Amino acid sequence: MEKERVLDVQNLHAVFKIQKKEYEVLHDISFSVDRNETVCIVGESGCGKSVTTLCVMGLLPKNGRITKGSIKLDGDEIAGLSEKEIRKYRGSKMGMIFQEPMTALNPLLTIGYQLRENLMLHRGVNKATADKMAVEYLTKVGIANPADRLKQYPFQLSGGLRQRVLIAMVLSAQPDLLIADEPTTALDVTIQKQVLTLLNELKKDMNAGILFITHDLGVVAEIADRVVVFYAGRKVEEGNTLQIFKNPKHPYTIGLMNAVPDVDKDEFVIQPIPGMFPNITEDIPGCRFSPRCPHADECALCRSEAPALKEIEPGHFAACHLIDQEAAS
Ligand SMILES: Nc1ncnc2c1ncn2[C@@H]1O[C@H](COP(=O)(O)OP(=O)(O)OP(=O)(O)O)[C@@H](O)[C@H]1O
Ligand SMILES: [Mg+2]
Repeated sequence: MEKERVLDVQNLHAVFKIQKKEYEVLHDISFSVDRNETVCIVGESGCGKSVTTLCVMGLLPKNGRITKGSIKLDGDEIAGLSEKEIRKYRGSKMGMIFQEPMTALNPLLTIGYQLRENLMLHRGVNKATADKMAVEYLTKVGIANPADRLKQYPFQLSGGLRQRVLIAMVLSAQPDLLIADEPTTALDVTIQKQVLTLLNELKKDMNAGILFITHDLGVVAEIADRVVVFYAGRKVEEGNTLQIFKNPKHPYTIGLMNAVPDVDKDEFVIQPIPGMFPNITEDIPGCRFSPRCPHADECALCRSEAPALKEIEPGHFAACHLIDQEAAS
């Protein structure tokens, strides 16, 4: 079966205005998500993961703007659409789940009311059908006693249940793309695992693409088909999950791998990457990672020229001068 592209981001650049000056927050970002595929964007805090999702959803804050590039959702160009235009896509063709589900749920309305309204709006069903479907959707996301839950208000549910309700809500609109920005970060580990398992099951069930944002490589291993590694607003590596975990090429990705807790030893041996993560206002010549890279002195170009992305093996890309050097020697 031909793969169907749901999201296609090409050469995306975005800036933030800070005290009258514009600083680049995303530089030449390209990636795509197919149906039935989960793509994870990973990277340290501040690397531009959330800003990327905000660009896709048309929700950049007022001081931010896309300066270049294309974002296609089901083939439609959505970069730079007006708020009115992008509303046709948000909530229907693309659904979103966030770290804190309370921000997306109305605290004053019951779960049942919100789910029913959503179903009537996006699926065009009447009230009675919507109520029946609401029960089905809560069951689908593994919520016991759905009829009772529908009568409750968001604050009456635990964080894990709220996240499930939000997932049910998003799915009930049958989106083609599901965007999940750190949806499990606020949950404890057991609940986190349950939500990830649920998303894995739902991916097959709903035939959608998932764009999943996390800084936790354990989560990536659990859920990703493909991984896009960001460093300071740039894509530094991309590959399928096996390629990234077994054969990471960029020194930053390798550093991230070292920072993973050692589950075999049943202990958390976290070795953070030494050095500070740059601020978007900082101008770093050459490779943005060079001030922290253990290999930056091995190659004359690292501190002067930005490395381009190279394909190392089919579907596996990295942007590092050392790879070119290795290939040349
Ligand atoms: N409204 C804003 N104005 C100026 N700078 C901003 C604004 N929002 C975000 N930034 C900056 O943009 C960069 C990218 O932020 P972003 O929220 O995308 O990071 P992230 O990768 O999602 O991090 P985290 O893992 O902490 O969620 C950061 O340096 C951040 O400080
Ligand atoms: Mg974020």
